[in-house]
Formats: sequence, C-alpha cells, structure tokens
Amino acid sequence: MKILDKEILADSQGARIVKLTVQSPDIAAKAKAGQFVVLMVKEEGERTPLTVVQADASKGTIVLIVQAAGLTTKLLANMYKGDSLYSLVGPLGHATEIKNFGRVVLVGGGVGIAEIYPVARALKSAGNHVTAIIGSRTKDLLILERELGGTTDALTVMTDDGSYGRKGFVTEALKEELAKEKPGLVYAVGPLPMMRAVSETTKSSGVHTVVSLNALMVDGTGMCGCCRVTVAGQVKFSCIDGPEFEARDVDWQELMKRNSVYCEQEKHICRLNNL
Ligand code: FES
Repeated sequence: MKILDKEILADSQGARIVKLTVQSPDIAAKAKAGQFVVLMVKEEGERTPLTVVQADASKGTIVLIVQAAGLTTKLLANMYKGDSLYSLVGPLGHATEIKNFGRVVLVGGGVGIAEIYPVARALKSAGNHVTAIIGSRTKDLLILERELGGTTDALTVMTDDGSYGRKGFVTEALKEELAKEKPGLVYAVGPLPMMRAVSETTKSSGVHTVVSLNALMVDGTGMCGCCRVTVAGQVKFSCIDGPEFEARDVDWQELMKRNSVYCEQEKHICRLNNL
C-alpha cells in the first residue's frame, strides 16, 4: 500500500488532480476495467472509493487518479511518494462489460476522464471503433489527453471556457456523434449533472448508455446501504450492483440530492483541518 510515485496532473483554479502509483500486487493481479478500490488514508479517516485507472500485474502496481475535493481526497492528494495508505480494499464492483459493440462513444468530464481511460483501452482491445469526447472547465484542468489520443480512433476535446479544443459541453459533441451513426454503446463518467445530461441526450435514440456512478460509499461491500440508488424503480447498491448502470434508468434527482447531503459538514471539517 506504499505510494511508489506521485504526479500532479492538474493544479488550477483551486482544483488539484493527482496521479498515484500504489504498490498492491493482489489488486493489480485481479482488477479489471470499471472496478474500484476503497481506501483509508489514516486509521481514523473515512473510506473513499476510487476507480482503478491502470493495473500492472507484472509490477504489482495500480494507478489511482484523485481530485482533491473533500477532506480525504485532499489528504490523499497531499501524500508523498514513500508514504503508505492505512488500508486498501479491492477490486470492488462489477467490471465493465467488454465485447465488440462495433462503434462506441466514451464521454469523460473532469476527473471522470481518468475513469473512461481503462474502459477505452479494454474496448479498443475488443475490436471496437472507439471515439472519446473529453471535457473540462478549462485547459489547465484537462487530463489524459495524450493517453486517450493514443488509445482511441477519434478524440474530441471540449472546454467550458473555450481555452482549448472546442468551446462548449461534451453533450454538444455527443449529439454530433449520434447524428453520424448510431453507436452500439455510449459510456459516460463525470460530474452527476454531466452524466444526467448525457442520459437525456441519448434517451430518445435508445442507444445503450452506461454511466459509472460516484455514489457516497462507506464499506463498499454491500453492508451499510449508504450507496443506494434507485434504478428502474428498484433500490440498488452502487458498490455491489454497480458502479455501472443503464443511464436512462437512474433516478438522477434522488442521487444528486443524496450526494449533496454532507456538503456543509465536508466544508466545515476541511476548514477545521486547514484544507
Ligand atoms: S457502500 Fe455500503 S452498501 Fe455500498
């Protein structure tokens, strides 16, 4: 659980995105695209889920990419090469369904770009024609452009402020891709409003659209019920039933409400810790 390497991928406008290479031979040997780990920075800390961005079984390492947002992610982003995590559990959750869908469109927003990267690699290996659309608020917060450019058949970059790529939201580029030819799969990860917008964009076309939800989690193994989401009218646990679900079936309003429940407490505890 030692941090073998740390790289700051983005640090701008109060947002910091950090890449950590962590020693974890058992997880590296088993993790598949779409799966995640739950980690603790220190004994009295909370448990935080993070997608496994890369797993190298031969080196026994996994790569995690984290945006410093709440207390734990800020503490994690402040750790140094050589530090050790208190605990690390995984791989958790169902792996992404990887098969030849024909043409797939992957949509990543913000740090969600890190989560579409392993899926892009796996879908490309399965013979798909892979198009990726990635977006960020501004150029300095864009991550993994080179890596995704080297993995996919086509890549479109969008920034909210037009400082790089095209100005606008990822859903504008997605509409253009849908108009070209109906893909076999749209796969989206990013902030909840972005995934909801992707869901609304593809709904009328009936395109199979998968989202990976970043629901609140505690144990990550189906025991606490903290990560429950309503999907197609049924209660599901993100950690063991997901984290991926058909986008049009997700109750987005409920999920957004649940994910904002602890915002004030999070800000308060960050202030107490001078973070
Ligand atoms: S995190 Fe506890 S049930 Fe999913």
